[in-house]
Amino acid sequence: MAYFMAVANRKGGVGKSTISVMLAQAFAIWGKKRVLMIDLDSQCNASLILIGGQGWRDARNNDKTIADFFYDLFDGIPAKPRDYLLPNVGDVHDDTGKAPRLALLPGSLLLEDIQGELFVRQSRESPSPEVVASRVRGRIENLLRRYGASYDLVVLDCPPGLSLAALAALKTADKVIVPFKPDYVSQLAVDRIALLIEDKGTLDALSNIPQNSRRYACLANGVRNTGKDRNLIEEIGLFHPMLETQMPQKDAIANAFDWEPGLRSLEQKYGDGLADMRKLYDEVAPMLDQATKLQAANE
Ligand SMILES: Nc1ncnc2c1ncn2[C@@H]1O[C@H](COP(=O)(O)OP(=O)(O)OP(=O)(O)O)[C@@H](O)[C@H]1O
Ligand SMILES: [Mg+2]
Repeated sequence: MAYFMAVANRKGGVGKSTISVMLAQAFAIWGKKRVLMIDLDSQCNASLILIGGQGWRDARNNDKTIADFFYDLFDGIPAKPRDYLLPNVGDVHDDTGKAPRLALLPGSLLLEDIQGELFVRQSRESPSPEVVASRVRGRIENLLRRYGASYDLVVLDCPPGLSLAALAALKTADKVIVPFKPDYVSQLAVDRIALLIEDKGTLDALSNIPQNSRRYACLANGVRNTGKDRNLIEEIGLFHPMLETQMPQKDAIANAFDWEPGLRSLEQKYGDGLADMRKLYDEVAPMLDQATKLQAANE
């Protein structure tokens, strides 16, 4: 069963899609893992980074998106999860010149519509909005888990906000990476998502869970070399598990957002952001290794 890693924050524009793709490519190329990226955001940025605009339009025309998978299943069409995936995606090659084992379940603008439709359907069976929401979330969780069988790692790029798909991803994830940009609302955003991930009502209750037992880790992204950034990161780190790696604000990282036709090396894609990506990978990779060892010991 795959290790599920969600990249989430309710706040928009903090680097979720950028970090998701970096992690997926790092595990596929450096870790030689079988990786699947599931794009849960209807803005579809992770898909655009991995297959470009034309690739994403082709996926839509060929009914290969997360929305097609969900619609088919809910309509009782025998859908095989792998039929909706694109294999060997991304515009980088590994050290042998080949595209890595990185598959994508492309995102769709229709994912939000599906959640609404599912909600209406489930509402016929229960009058309680809470019950309906938890059933819809549970169904999405089940669908996500179906992708666990054939991969070592499934990366879930979450949308900003709190859709049922985002909540399902938080429930499914073995680990949630919470990128944040150091600014004055980041503390609040991290607090809120941490409460959701750990299912606690107050920060006091959250603080009773030792930091090293929590299911999430924060990642400062877009960091500038200023005292203000350092102080904000330190303050958040007092209450929340914080990765030692900090991703600096760099043009090279911003440029890596752009898909280019053909395959290039990681150095060509990430430029001077590659060392930061490597540091992040080296810190996160042991989480997967530990989980794999634990799983093997339990079997
Ligand atoms: N470390 C960084 N240095 C420079 N630019 C960055 C960095 N991280 C992200 N960006 C840029 O910031 C913008 C937002 O990043 P991204 O789309 O990954 O965030 P997001 O959290 O996924 O946004 P959304 O909430 O809209 O899904 C993009 O233009 C991206 O290229
Ligand atoms: Mg995004």
